[in-house]
Amino acid sequence: MKLTIHDDIKKIPYYPKAMMYGYDEGWVRLSSNENPFPPSPKVFSSILDALFFTNRYPGGELELKSAIAKKLGIAAEQVLIGNGSNELIEMTLKAMKHGKRNKVIISDPSFAFYAIAAQVYGYEVCKVPLADMHVDLGLVGKQIDKTTRIIFLNNPLNPTGTIFEQEHFENFMKTVPPEVLIVVDEAYAEFVESAQFPNTIKDIGERPVLVMRTFSKAYGLAGLRIGYGIGEESLIAFLERTKQPFSVNMMALIAAQAALSDGAYLKKVLRNNRNGKLYFSKALQELSIESVPSEANFILVKLGKDAEAITKRLFEEKVLVRWMGAYGLPDFIRVSVGRMDENRRFIEVLRRVI
Ligand SMILES: Cc1ncc(COP(=O)(O)O)c(C=O)c1O
Repeated sequence: MKLTIHDDIKKIPYYPKAMMYGYDEGWVRLSSNENPFPPSPKVFSSILDALFFTNRYPGGELELKSAIAKKLGIAAEQVLIGNGSNELIEMTLKAMKHGKRNKVIISDPSFAFYAIAAQVYGYEVCKVPLADMHVDLGLVGKQIDKTTRIIFLNNPLNPTGTIFEQEHFENFMKTVPPEVLIVVDEAYAEFVESAQFPNTIKDIGERPVLVMRTFSKAYGLAGLRIGYGIGEESLIAFLERTKQPFSVNMMALIAAQAALSDGAYLKKVLRNNRNGKLYFSKALQELSIESVPSEANFILVKLGKDAEAITKRLFEEKVLVRWMGAYGLPDFIRVSVGRMDENRRFIEVLRRVI
């Protein structure tokens, strides 16, 4: 190809594409922190109803904003809907472009798309190492300078499952200058049980904070692509301007409303997740394998130098987990909590393979 592509684009790593493995019987898919259950029955019937209207452009965004706002006790104008939280990350980067202020701070490791998207939009990425598998807000704060524009904090953190706590977050926020936007990605918030988990939503009127949540995890709608952001009204209005019209499809909008209304489904998912983590922690202990205590729907498991080879052996047995080499943790795998039969299958194969 004769086209010249700028080096800044050439050096961007690929985001791993989802594989079809695991959609069919026989596979145990614990590699992408997905919900192991099909969505709520209310989602199915709402999608069937919506099918009759696919000749129309997607409506329903305002209704969904109102439903989210009601649930959280905020105004609908403080809610932003995106094609997954991934689109919210992009909207943020587009809206915040600001000449020389072009530094984005992230923890290392953290969710891979922050760095990829930041590079696509021409930002400089500053990566801050973890302290004992936790985001070190003190260290993050030390990286803030006159060029800093956005800080992406992920709580709980993918891939460790650890959280930073209310008190630390409050202290950190006091040190952040007003020209810096803090994005707190709470993709796994519904799974958290710790009472110390920060109440970020109460900060949105006071400080430049955008909180991101998603329907991909606890609500089981990853394949439909829908997430939401919560922030101060004028911030949301500016972010909204950078959004592609109709980026969220009609099925997703309608399904998300239905999913929100099914409290029993959410309870079932959270109960399964809690039991799954307890099972993993006990079973791994029995195998003398270390893991990181997690507040999310996945756990980080230390397998040592054979971690990659074990991942391959698990794959041969149709058990999918994520080797953490790409996250700079080559001794670890990340395992999503599945249904209990899937969790047992993982442990059974792991026991045999090691
Ligand atoms: C921390 C974090 N944020 C965002 C996402 C993506 O969410 P969405 O499916 O809403 O784009 C993921 C997906 O794994 C994630 O781990």
